[in-house]
Amino acid sequence: MIVWIYKNKKGLLLNDFFSIKRDYTKRYKLYETLLQHYQLKQEAVTYLEFGVAHGASFRWWMQENTNSSSSFFGFDTFEGLPENWGGFYAKGDMKADVPQLNDTRGMFIKGLFQDTLNKFIEEKKELLSSANRRMIHMDADLYSATIFALSQLYPFLKKDDIILFDEFNVPLHEFKAFQEFTASFYVKLKPVAAVNNFYQTAFVVV
Ligand SMILES: C[S@@+](CC[C@H](N)C(=O)[O-])C[C@H]1O[C@@H](n2cnc3c(N)ncnc32)[C@H](O)[C@@H]1O
Repeated sequence: MIVWIYKNKKGLLLNDFFSIKRDYTKRYKLYETLLQHYQLKQEAVTYLEFGVAHGASFRWWMQENTNSSSSFFGFDTFEGLPENWGGFYAKGDMKADVPQLNDTRGMFIKGLFQDTLNKFIEEKKELLSSANRRMIHMDADLYSATIFALSQLYPFLKKDDIILFDEFNVPLHEFKAFQEFTASFYVKLKPVAAVNNFYQTAFVVV
């Protein structure tokens, strides 16, 4: 991981490496940077979030993007993590009620990604292939969930789509999924901004 950081840390829009303390609220600075740089406020986007829990990041993006043609889809079991996440969290942690939305552009898909995503893709093929920029927010923490979602969405990825990782620098989880995905699908992802020593990292498809 550290080798990757040293290779990739130059020239980013935002990068706080090395910070002594992790500050989770910094992720909103990262989102704000993307919003400004890519002018995402007014753009029509298809936003897919994997790992919603109480909906904090989901709501942020839906509130900030004001285009009426945007769509926001949040995937989660809402029954918590389907397996232990290292020594930090146990299966069932992060259980949450499905958040309430008062914006018709958004919806939640309840269940394991492994059970719901393929049906969703079948139903939304057209939207997923449309001119709207795809924004994929990986916040499921787990290797299994991250590699699964990325590999299913691979056929729809286009240049300039944005992929955000919320726990990127965890070597055996999101980072491992990132490495395997980019190596085995020949997908090129360019890092554009990061906070908390690359814990939260954003990429564009090149
Ligand atoms: C860190 S939380 C999401 C936090 C949220 N994005 C926020 O802004 O605070 C991770 C979520 O991923 C979900 N999750 C992990 N693996 C999953 C899977 N394979 N299928 C469905 N949900 C999963 C868990 O249920 C959990 O709610």
